[in-house]
Amino acid sequence: MITIALSKGRLAEKALDLLEAAGYDVSAGREESRKLILEDEKTGLRFIMAKPSDVPTYVEYGAADIGVVGKDTLLEEGRNLYEVIDLGFGACRMCVCGPVSLKGKLDQIPNKRVASKYPNITRAYFEGTKKESVEIIKLNGSVELAPLIGLSEVIVDIVESGRTLKENGLDVLEVVADISARVVVNRVSMKMKEAEILPMIDALRKQVAIRNAQKAAEGK
Ligand code: PRP
Repeated sequence: MITIALSKGRLAEKALDLLEAAGYDVSAGREESRKLILEDEKTGLRFIMAKPSDVPTYVEYGAADIGVVGKDTLLEEGRNLYEVIDLGFGACRMCVCGPVSLKGKLDQIPNKRVASKYPNITRAYFEGTKKESVEIIKLNGSVELAPLIGLSEVIVDIVESGRTLKENGLDVLEVVADISARVVVNRVSMKMKEAEILPMIDALRKQVAIRNAQKAAEGK
């Protein structure tokens, strides 16, 4: 039995679609219910529906063999896992954002306060990459509020369409990282269940390559 931790929501749907395209029977995972463990003896697949930020934890401890999770969560959680495939979907960017008036002037503000749901990514970017010390304020959502209401000068957050920023008079000031969904594997499972996991990784990689080639042909 292979246990796959899915991020409840849109990523889970897309992950199931991809596994199906790769030749796996994922009907157990599509069951409409509040059950958090969905398994099928016949296919040897067990899906667990986890909160996205917990997926790396389940996989690191081996409670799940495989996980599908956003790169943002992986960067924030910093877990000890194999990251084996960039699935391409769930694409967005992790950015430093703030008022349009700060464009090109970010480095001129000393001792900035930076609000974010991602304190570890924020620390790694400002203190690690930019060698700048900042005050990090952890929020749990609607982070765009912080610079509007004077809680912080800037934020570090996910930008997908850019609509939330635009409608709140904010803009991208710097790009921290490109984000998309990734497949991660537990280090022990990779060895102990190699016969099941490697073919699955291969089949998923082939599907991703086909989709990437289609996108390139369509000029996307
Ligand atoms: C995310 C993110 C931004 C928004 C970006 O928030 O934190 O606020 O989506 O998307 P956009 O560029 O397409 O507008 P989410 O909807 O997850 O809710 P949250 O504010 O509670 O984090």
